[in-house]
Amino acid sequence: MPAIVLVGAQWGDEGKGKATDLLGSRVDYVVKFNGGNNAGHTVVIDGEKYALHLLPSGILSPGVVPVVANGVVVDISVLFEELDGLIARGIDVSRLLISANAHVITSYHRTIDKVTERFLGKKQIGTTGRGIGPAYADKINRVGIRIQDLFDANILRQKVEGALDQKNQLLVKVYNRRAVDVSEVVDELLSYAERLRPMVADTSLVLNRALDEGKTVLFEGGQATMLDVDHGTYPFVTSSNATSGGAATGSGVAPNRFDRVIAIVKAYTTRVGAGPFPTELFDESGEFLRSTGAEFGTTTGRPRRVGWYDAPIARYAARINGVTDFVMTKLDVLTGLDTIPVCVGYDVDGVRFDEVPVNQSDFHHAVPIYEEFPGWTEDITAARVFEDLPRNAQDYVLAVEAMSGSRISAIGVGPGREGIIVRHDLLD
Ligand code: GDP
Ligand code: IMO
Ligand code: MG
Repeated sequence: MPAIVLVGAQWGDEGKGKATDLLGSRVDYVVKFNGGNNAGHTVVIDGEKYALHLLPSGILSPGVVPVVANGVVVDISVLFEELDGLIARGIDVSRLLISANAHVITSYHRTIDKVTERFLGKKQIGTTGRGIGPAYADKINRVGIRIQDLFDANILRQKVEGALDQKNQLLVKVYNRRAVDVSEVVDELLSYAERLRPMVADTSLVLNRALDEGKTVLFEGGQATMLDVDHGTYPFVTSSNATSGGAATGSGVAPNRFDRVIAIVKAYTTRVGAGPFPTELFDESGEFLRSTGAEFGTTTGRPRRVGWYDAPIARYAARINGVTDFVMTKLDVLTGLDTIPVCVGYDVDGVRFDEVPVNQSDFHHAVPIYEEFPGWTEDITAARVFEDLPRNAQDYVLAVEAMSGSRISAIGVGPGREGIIVRHDLLD
């Protein structure tokens, strides 16, 4: 089972970091293929908490080669900070590889992210403010700076000049901001070059050779299906392809090499930032899920919006990603509820939809149609096989599985590495 893709099924924070960590000891490479330091993965190992933003969670597994592939946007100051934090805690980060083709997030991308959000006013996306959208916009607009540009001062200067040509006009004349000084940007980026140099590689070549040799490679998606720029709730999305197709374009590994697609799905739903969310809760059940599930952002600390499980979204994720296995996380958070509603379809202005509507206005108006399942009160955090779960918890998982378009192969029952029930081996 050499090439495995792991993605988020909902709006992020499903527990991808924990799932990657779970597989970490059995894989040789873990590849981040999209996004940047907008991601926030919390991994708990022996009670110790690690928060990763830019680096793939596989960096915590000894022996794994972590790879930041071409589809990622890299804020180099954040990269170094994160590496230093891990080194200080005794993690070996020496194997990290970064694609020469990955794009760089610069100070002006962060500035533009913040000013454009401010200009959107009430229509703002609620981005993480990390410069993600503007860096990807420059990539698509062909004025981006790539990691390899840092090793040629003349080329770097030309490219930064080109990138700032129009941006400075915009910043000064539209956004009423100070123009960005080309030399300041160039000097900052050049100052990173020497520390970066040994990490930079042709990661597509490295990964394809690794697969040729029979090594196991895990492609870890940041964000999630409903935040994907093509398939998510546009424009309330991130600016990259977080779905499984992004693993191919974002790494230079061809689609026919992927063997398995694992989607991580929470036993309920959360979302950070603005945009439609049919099952969102505003009552005490919502408060219960937020506090019991500790639903506060790893990256920005914002309280996450919370709601019930949405089966059409899981089916949508199964379809878009070609999901072979779901990992359902945080089942333990539902313990103590009398009944657990699950969204099985939507009512849109009197019309029933069984699938996620393609029309954005319809999705904004979608009122969930719920089926209710009886809850359980027993503590399930020590369950290690499916049969350890109370009958009602088993029935909830089986019912949700039948609606979600693929099998649920593992179930999270606690934040720690050990808090997992495996029903089908994810690498077999
Ligand atoms: P990611 O962005 O998908 O990697 O997810 P985050 O790390 O942002 O958010 C998931 C949170 O849920 C983290 O704090 C995890 O420690 C926690 N978590 C993961 N799986 C479980 C689980 O099965 N039960 C509980 N209670 N917490 C979990
Ligand atoms: P992980 O990998 C949850 C959301 C932001 C905002 C939108 C656009 O931890 O699941 P951006 O800064 O990317 O331009 O913001 O996307 N967002 C996330 N929400 N988890 C994430 O990552 C996210 N990354 C971006 O809140 O609504
Ligand atoms: Mg997260």
